[in-house]
Amino acid sequence: MTTLASDYLLAPSILAANFACLGEEVSNVIAAGADWVHFDVMDNHYVPNLTVGPLVCEAIRPCTAALIDAHLMVEPVDSLVVAFVRAGANVLTFHPEASRHVDRTLAMIREHGCQAGLALNPATPLHVLEYVMDRLDLVLIMSVNPGFGGQAFLPSTLAKIRNLRERFDAYERESGRRIRLQVDGGVKVENIAGIAKAGADLFVLGSAVFGAARADDPHRYDSVIADLRGELAGVCRL
Ligand code: DX5
Ligand code: ZN
Repeated sequence: MTTLASDYLLAPSILAANFACLGEEVSNVIAAGADWVHFDVMDNHYVPNLTVGPLVCEAIRPCTAALIDAHLMVEPVDSLVVAFVRAGANVLTFHPEASRHVDRTLAMIREHGCQAGLALNPATPLHVLEYVMDRLDLVLIMSVNPGFGGQAFLPSTLAKIRNLRERFDAYERESGRRIRLQVDGGVKVENIAGIAKAGADLFVLGSAVFGAARADDPHRYDSVIADLRGELAGVCRL
């Protein structure tokens, strides 16, 4: 299957943003050319860190028309699905280990009119996807262990992405439906082209974007987003 540069989506993670002015951070990064807002939810139970919940999602909702991509690193999952739908999230991704009934949780997300995704940790095998492909809009491959921003990309992830890309392409040939392949953790200007060549088409960027340039410049994200797009423009996957 062909992936064009225009098919690639960039999803900056607010985990690395300045929370003292989160609304402005969200509008500025989308104005700089990013596509989705990645919203990392950690509960100090499924992962050893605590971040933000539906109240903060609701607070940033009016700041952008971009899709809010909620990455739920929480256990259990189902009650928070409803809370995030009400808070205005558009894409809801959870970890299969954190839900007792993965098929049911995926169906519930779709029934609420949102896109549904499964997030796979570095050690989680791809076979967990086997009987739920028709329920999925995206699969998020974790390229670090979940819980913290600013970690280094795990090189073993590239083989996993290639493997999943083959499965997705076969699935698309059979069903005519494309599932997005998202990568989260340690993605930078320096490695995004290699990750795209392996088969990813949706990129989460925390420190690479929000760590960029002077904090008092409202256009500070323009150049890093342009650099990321430039790297992707050089990739043509046939
Ligand atoms: C980690 C989160 C990631 C992370 C990305 O658990 O899911 O979204 O914050 O941050 P960077 O790009 O800094 O690795
Ligand atoms: Zn994430």
